[in-house]
Amino acid sequence: MISRRALLAGAAAAGAVGFAPSALGRVPASVDTLPKSAPVRRLALSAAEMEMPLLGPGKPVTKGFCAYNGTPFLTLRAPVGTRLMVDFENRLPDLTTVHWHGVRVPYLSDGVSPLTQAPIPAGSTFTYNVPLPDPGFYFFHPHCDETGQVGRGLVGLLVVDDPAEAKLGFDAEHFIVVKDWRLDEKDGRWLEMFTDEGASTAGTFGTVRATNGSIVPPRVEAPAYGDVRLRVIVADSTRTIDFGCETEDAAIIAIDGQALTPLPLSKLPNEIWRMGPAMRIDVHVRMPGPGEEVKVYDYRTAEPYLLTTLVGVDAPGNKPGRKKTAFRPKALPPAKVPLPDVKRASRIDYLVQTAAGPIVSGDPLPPDDPLAKALIASACVGSKTFWAINRNSWGAGADLRLPPPLATLKDGASYVVSITNVTKHVHPMHLHGHVFRVLSSSKKKDIPPYLADTVMTEPNETVEIAFRAASGDWVFHCHILEHMDSGLMGWIRVV
Ligand code: C2O
Ligand code: CU
Repeated sequence: MISRRALLAGAAAAGAVGFAPSALGRVPASVDTLPKSAPVRRLALSAAEMEMPLLGPGKPVTKGFCAYNGTPFLTLRAPVGTRLMVDFENRLPDLTTVHWHGVRVPYLSDGVSPLTQAPIPAGSTFTYNVPLPDPGFYFFHPHCDETGQVGRGLVGLLVVDDPAEAKLGFDAEHFIVVKDWRLDEKDGRWLEMFTDEGASTAGTFGTVRATNGSIVPPRVEAPAYGDVRLRVIVADSTRTIDFGCETEDAAIIAIDGQALTPLPLSKLPNEIWRMGPAMRIDVHVRMPGPGEEVKVYDYRTAEPYLLTTLVGVDAPGNKPGRKKTAFRPKALPPAKVPLPDVKRASRIDYLVQTAAGPIVSGDPLPPDDPLAKALIASACVGSKTFWAINRNSWGAGADLRLPPPLATLKDGASYVVSITNVTKHVHPMHLHGHVFRVLSSSKKKDIPPYLADTVMTEPNETVEIAFRAASGDWVFHCHILEHMDSGLMGWIRVV
């Protein structure tokens, strides 16, 4: 069981220090992934509410939209090897934290309340040490009342640039942020983000769809016959998309920021790539001639949903006399993340399942416990339990407790984890602090091995992933945020 005193001390010092459950024996070292000499970039980050015309011009504005630094989908960018020191200020009226999704940060900067830090109260600050050891496309978001705060827009993008990519010669870069809004379409007010019906099934969907915040699918100009790098992210709390392009000349060149041997969309079953919440892809698209379009769709809905239209233009910056040439997808430099030794790996099996009722592995905190009160008041935990991993659910409501770790692993050792989804719904499963190799799926054949931080599991599918364990306390959870908030989260300790 967890050390009550450590938790209470952490809660008392809310916002000031991280804390970790210590009664399990040795507390993991919070290991840095860059040398001390790495160049440091200090930046101020705040989260606050603002008004946004989400329903479009001439419609009621929406209050209580949440953004970082006053910018919807704020994008941070830095060269690989940089250390970001982020002075974060919580200007929201509620508790929050910041999690750096997919970035291999020391775990005390991982932003998971209450596992790695106490929630940051309104008006308080916390400094995150965010080393950027790997190039790629990442994002950041709260890990406390995620369903509510992300639902109202609190998502930032993070691009880690590799100078070696410059010679690939992309002509343009464009972001596609898939994020719906749960709004009353008459008055622009937010609807309840968490519903029992949604949380216990596929999740509660937004009422209006949007790309990059706009309910009108963006039209973007790009050099005719040029090479576009699309950075696509599903930042929605619920929606899974089947990403596809109306062209033969498109290939996935990175998944969750990690390079892979280019995977032409035309070679994939149904020419689509399925992406659940939190998943990213980089896509190389070759533009057609001037005035011609490439339409990018989500084919998962009965009626394909247009995400974005790319339009070929002869812009002044366009190289004169550019002609159509054969499409050869550009390969990014190979990823350099720590790789598992699959042959010598230990095996772990996880079942993603519905909760069979409250299964209490540890003592729940009594409701009058100061920590229980602090955390319930914090809205950092959900109120219902619908899901479990190996019969363990993350604490919710009155059953407030940190469950025991799913496993205690050895720092530097390799593990193969099989994840079997025995529910009727898809679950995009995310492991913090690691980039893992997706080894196999019982349902999808012919997919080359690739690296990721979030992997889709379909009903009755077993997916195998492998990774080299890194020191820390790391959560493993479904990224459908209502699922996570209703039990579908566990944690591993690596010492
Ligand atoms: Cu996007 Cu626990 O993470
Ligand atoms: Cu789920």
